[in-house]
Amino acid sequence: MTTDAGELLERVRAGGPVPRHVAIIMDGNGRWARERHLPRPLGHRAGMQAVRETVEASIAAGVGVLTLFAFSEENWNRPRTEIGALMGLLEEYIGRETEELRGNGVEVRALGDLTRLQPPAREALDRLIDATRGGTKLLLNLAISYSSRAEIARAARRLAEDVVQGRLALEDVDEDALALRLYTAGLPDPDLLVRTSGEQRVSNFLLWQIAYTELFITPVLWPDFSRLHLYEAILAYQGRERRFGRVTA
Ligand code: FPP
Repeated sequence: MTTDAGELLERVRAGGPVPRHVAIIMDGNGRWARERHLPRPLGHRAGMQAVRETVEASIAAGVGVLTLFAFSEENWNRPRTEIGALMGLLEEYIGRETEELRGNGVEVRALGDLTRLQPPAREALDRLIDATRGGTKLLLNLAISYSSRAEIARAARRLAEDVVQGRLALEDVDEDALALRLYTAGLPDPDLLVRTSGEQRVSNFLLWQIAYTELFITPVLWPDFSRLHLYEAILAYQGRERRFGRVTA
């Protein structure tokens, strides 16, 4: 770790509460590749390294939950070659990182419609989830084939089923009941949402869960995102006043 990162980490530790849950929209792999006249998959490959560094930095900072938007349902509309490259990278990441993630106490879960994954990617993901179950240092949520509206619609359908089947009274359909049927059931909402590459959108990511989340948008393209940038985002978060719709104390 460079001195700069060490210093920033000290400031993070001294700077107040560390966000319990950080969510990241990892954007800009394609632009990173284009700037270098490289094919897009090489941007995603460089992005994979940034994932590894961000996981390590999150553990060092004491973040409890890290949710990464790796592949949206809308991404299924990308060219087949790019989808193939992304799924291949996911399998490669799992092949390379499972032991280290397990050794570092990371528990991995997946959020999204995994039924759409091809068997090799699905099986690799299942193995990773099995191998890391019970890790206590960091919960790493990989949002894959994920869309927030689809997640909310699925939760609504499950609520309706529970009412129709008599497992839930209509009067008990409330925010908590819906939240319990999301992929993130039981987890704290993100305190901090980071988006890279400067785009000012939430792109169908955790729409329910980010109601009061602090947003941090950085122009840095995802493959260039380093531990320094994560610590900068956390420091910015620590400087925010969170009111949750109330007035200042
Ligand atoms: C957005 O960049 C990024 C993605 C669609 C994929 C994210 C994937 C990775 C970071 C690598 C693999 C991840 C794991 C967990 C192993 P973009 O392609 O939309 O970039 P652009 O907007 O510049 O075109």
